[in-house]
Amino acid sequence: MLSQYLYISTAPSLSREEVDSILASSARNNPANGITGLLLYNGRNFLQLLEGEEADLVGLMVRITHDPRHTGISMLEQRKVNERSCPDWAMKRVLIAESVEKRREILEAELPKGLDDQIRKIIMNFAVLN
Ligand SMILES: Cc1cc2nc3c(=O)[nH]c(=O)nc-3n(C[C@H](O)[C@H](O)[C@H](O)COP(=O)(O)O)c2cc1C
Repeated sequence: MLSQYLYISTAPSLSREEVDSILASSARNNPANGITGLLLYNGRNFLQLLEGEEADLVGLMVRITHDPRHTGISMLEQRKVNERSCPDWAMKRVLIAESVEKRREILEAELPKGLDDQIRKIIMNFAVLN
């Protein structure tokens, strides 16, 4: 049975390189663990959607929780799903546009179509903050 996790965490002012290295780890490890998802960073907080088998997600969350690059992980959603929303993304970085007016529009185009409404709403709200 597949699950989806959605969490936020705090990481003030990580460099572009540091965020890139998180994406590189994800690309290296997630396919072998059957994990897919997306990652947003707004310069202060991460929002990550993870999907996969429960045991694989629990294993990854242990690593992520101990990662010193962020703190204050807060789980927003944990749910069982019948299928993945991001089957093709080992971990997609969803960029938040500079212009607040454009953010919704760009995200609507970027986020996967099959995303649960509740999760979509949380991601949209996160991206228009600040
Ligand atoms: C916000 C955040 C999200 C992360 N997401 C993943 C992930 O999806 N997959 C992953 O393998 N590592 C992820 N990491 C990195 C892990 O904490 C850990 O550093 C990494 O898995 C170690 O593997 P490596 O030695 O291959 O780099 C994330 C780290 C942070 C701070």
